[in-house]
Formats: sequence, structure tokens, C-alpha cells
Amino acid sequence: MKISVVGTGYVGLVTAAVLADLGHQVIGVDHDKSKLDKITAGISPIYEPGLDEILSRTIANGNLTTSTSIAEATKQTEVVFIAVGTPPMADGTPDIRAVKAVAASVAAAIDKPTIVVNKSTVPVGTGDLVEQIILDAGVSPELFTVVSNPEFLREGTAIYDTLNPDRIVLGTSDPGAAEKMKEVYEPLKAEVLVVSRPSAELIKYASNSFLAVKISFINAISRICEKCGGDVEEVSVGMGMDKRIGSQFLKAGLGWGGSCFPKDVQGLTKTGERLGYRFDLLTAADQINNEQTLHFLTRLQSRLGSLQGRTIGLLGLAFKPNTDDIRDAKSLEIIEFLRTNGATVVAHDPVAMPNTRQVHPEICYVDKPADVFSGADAVILVTEWAEFKNLDLATLKKVVGTALLFDGRRLWTREEAESAGWEYYTVGV
Ligand code: UGA
Repeated sequence: MKISVVGTGYVGLVTAAVLADLGHQVIGVDHDKSKLDKITAGISPIYEPGLDEILSRTIANGNLTTSTSIAEATKQTEVVFIAVGTPPMADGTPDIRAVKAVAASVAAAIDKPTIVVNKSTVPVGTGDLVEQIILDAGVSPELFTVVSNPEFLREGTAIYDTLNPDRIVLGTSDPGAAEKMKEVYEPLKAEVLVVSRPSAELIKYASNSFLAVKISFINAISRICEKCGGDVEEVSVGMGMDKRIGSQFLKAGLGWGGSCFPKDVQGLTKTGERLGYRFDLLTAADQINNEQTLHFLTRLQSRLGSLQGRTIGLLGLAFKPNTDDIRDAKSLEIIEFLRTNGATVVAHDPVAMPNTRQVHPEICYVDKPADVFSGADAVILVTEWAEFKNLDLATLKKVVGTALLFDGRRLWTREEAESAGWEYYTVGV
């Protein structure tokens, strides 16, 4: 099938590459020519394991091409995905101006039956808005239909998630469009759920918000554990064994970050407000999330007495492993807290240092994780990159100033750290 994907960010680029790899003829559209040049050279402009290989393959076999022109791409294809960013505005409402602008450009070029697919995460009602923009441009209702098709891929495992979705959600009341969209995804042999457009739009926000609430719940339990002698990891295992609860997204730590959960929790809260419902559960989940890192840092501060003049090592900066994304990363809160309280920060991340340097040029970045330990008064594990697990704690104890390990993601066990001579602190025990 001939498909355009407008927007080559995380969602757009992975969608375009995977659909091309499944055998469709895909045009990736972006106004940023330098991004497209990289893509056509088989180099992903974002860090995502496995993406370069798929880009090289699909560019070489001609299934993936690129264009800076939405009009050109729309004219050549029968399905147009809108996959542009919807960042939060100052009050937390998602900014859908890019979606509206793309819809207008698509509308101006529609000259044959076209399915316009909203893949961007957009507030409920945006599908109607996109439809209205296209109608207002004078396009006959028989020539187009707007489908909501939210994306559930995670950064770091985006290719796997796209190839192995738990479900494909299609929001449409047009049976013909639903059939056509099922053809797009047919090679995946995935379960397809066809629902109304508003339901599809809500499924995305509800899923992300529910997962964020789940993490905040276990983080709240971690606080109780710290006070009563329980161990949150044991509690989490015991809860997760109940199939109704499930073990995923039940790992206590420094809290959730990234470009999705914080934005979508705020976005759904705002949608509730707009529609006259006060979503207190989400407000509480957000509050627990904000307190979680602060509480951990307060424990570090009280252990050291004062952070003034101390050197603190940070292991990990990305909002989670296997990505260079630092949007709403807990590392940023930690750096700000440490700096405000007079500490010097030495940090390492396998891939997120260039991005962090742009926001925090004042801290010290080291090329090797082991160098974070040299002379440090304490080391905080912020992001649980697998390679940190292989660090030789016994050897590192010899170079550290004070052998104080604050493990924000429970990467190590107390036994591992203490047997290597470290004083060990972690979440929820
Ligand atoms: C999330 C959703 O998981 C995807 O389904 C969705 O498509 C995506 O948002 C999106 O809307 O685009 P992502 O933000 O890439 O994906 O990352 P997650 O793996 O969900 O992790 C989010 C945050 O939760 C991270 O900061 C992670 O460290 C934290 N987390 C996750 C925990 O603290 N505990 C857990 O048990 C799981």
C-alpha cells in the first residue's frame, strides 16, 4: 500500500520504517531537510536500537523514500499518517498546532480517496477537529475519512513494540476505512480493536495514565516499606503474581519521566477539567512522582549532613535505559537539587551526555562510568543501564571518596553492595 507518514520523530520514523519493512511503499515527510538527509543515508536522527538497520534496508530496497512536501506525499499515497509532536504548553494542555497545520496541508492536496490517520497523541475531540479542517478546505466528505490510530511503542524497544503490539486500536465509524487500515497492519497478525474515534483517542491517554498511576502506587508503597521494615520489591513480586494486577510497571524507583507519561497525565487531567471532571487520582499520582526523587535526595542530604562542597557522582542521565532522551528525566531534577545545595556533579551516561550537556553545561561529564566514582562523596544510580550492573563495586570502592551508594533503581542488591564494602541505600526498604 502507498502510505505517507508526516513527522519523523520517534513515533513517525519508527512507524514509517517498520511499515516500509513490512512491504509497503512509504514516504517519510518532514520539513527538516537535514533529518531526511540522515534518514536517506541510513542513519537515524534519533537513538533507537535497531533503527539504523531497518532504515538502511528499506532505503536500499526503495520501500522508504522521503519528502519535505506534505502535498507531494499526499498526492502519491492513499493513507496519510499524522505523527507530529504534541508537546505540553505552559498549563499542561497539549499543543496540537502542528497537527492542525499538517491537516490543513493534507487537505489542500487531497484529490482522490484518502484516509487521514491521527497517530500523534492528541486530546479527545482532535479527530473531529482534523475532519473539520479538511471539510473547511472544501474537500468533499466522500473523498476522505479521519481515523484515530494511537501508538503504544516505548522508546528503547520501539521496533519490537511496533512489530509485536498487544493491540492495534482503530477509531473510526467508517467500515471501509477500518478494513483498509487492517490491511496496513495485516502482516503483523495483531489483534485489532475497532472503536469510536473518541474512544480510541482516550485509550491512549488512559493507558499511559494508568501505567503512570501504577508506578506511583508502588512508589507510594515504597515509602510505607521504608517506615515499616517491608521491602517494596518483595511486595511488588507478590502483587504482580496476581494475574489481575500483573507484574509489569510495578518497579519502584525514582519515578516516571520521559516525553510521554508526564505530558499525558497532565493532558488527561486537563481534558477532565475541560469536560467538567476533576481527575484527583491523576493529580495525586503526579504529586507522588514529584515527591519520590526529592525524598531520595533528602535521604542523601541527611546522610551527608550537607551537600555543600561535596562531589556527587551520577550514573545515568537518560529518562530510562536504551535511549538518549532526557525529556523530563529524573536526572535533571537531581542535578538541579545537587547544584542548588552546593554540590559538584560528575556524571556519565552511555548515550545521553550530549543532550544533557545542552541543558547543563556546568556539570562535569566523564567518558567512563568508573570515572564517576573517583573521589566522589557519594554515587547515585539514576538510570538502570544494564552495563552499570557489571561495574566492579569492590574495585571502585578503592577510588571513591566515601563508599556511599544511593541506588535509585534497585539495580544492585544490598548483599552485592555491602559485600563489596559499600554503605547502600535504595528505594523502598
Ligand atoms: C510510554 C508507554 O509505555 C508506551 O506504551 C507509549 O507508547 C509511550 O509512552 C508514548 O506515549 O509514546 P516510554 O515513555 O517510552 O513509553 O517509556 P516507559 O518504558 O513506559 O517508561 C516511562 C517511565 O516510567 C520511565 O521513566 C521509567 O523509568 C518509568 N518506569 C517504568 C518505572 O519507574 N517503573 C516501572 O515499573 C516502569
